[in-house]
Amino acid sequence: MSRLDSYIRRMQAQKLCLDRAAQLIGTRPGPILELGFGNGRTYDHLRELFPGRKIYVFDRQINPHPDCVPPTDMVRLGDARETLPRFLEGAPEPAVLIHTDIGTGDKTASLRLAQDLAPTIARLLAPGGLVAGDQPLPDDGLEPLPLPEGVKVGRYHFYRRRA
Ligand SMILES: C[S@@+](CC[C@H](N)C(=O)[O-])C[C@H]1O[C@@H](n2cnc3c(N)ncnc32)[C@H](O)[C@@H]1O
Repeated sequence: MSRLDSYIRRMQAQKLCLDRAAQLIGTRPGPILELGFGNGRTYDHLRELFPGRKIYVFDRQINPHPDCVPPTDMVRLGDARETLPRFLEGAPEPAVLIHTDIGTGDKTASLRLAQDLAPTIARLLAPGGLVAGDQPLPDDGLEPLPLPEGVKVGRYHFYRRRA
């Protein structure tokens, strides 16, 4: 498969999973965490799906499109291995959804990063809260959910925090 095809399928999977998360969450309260802001494409989609919700943004650096600059007080800059546990220490309101899009070209490093972050991600979620992500998140507190129709197994990952 060409890199273009692979990219398109990843974007489709991402959108389908976020759309499905929005259906499942409905009006359940709670903030959203966006891990891997990049230039804010998925952040913008989350804003559209969840109007008026708090969306916290985590990245080493952000490069926002002018149409989707997040409020400064919602941005946590730095390595997520440091910013995420620090955020948790502040006893935040439990998240209803965490979206992780932290993959880089280095597959091994991306898997390792997700593995390192998984326990903190599980603790940041409200019971029943959802996580959709580009990497597997191995943690006993996270129950894998079926992927939306049209998303190939392994292309995206979808979990619910166990009660
Ligand atoms: C694929 S991009 C995210 C794309 C974004 N979701 C969008 O739609 O524009 C991956 C992002 O993960 C971030 N990232 C990778 N490793 C990270 C780490 N250890 N801590 C924080 N951010 C990281 C990168 O800086 C990059 O912006």
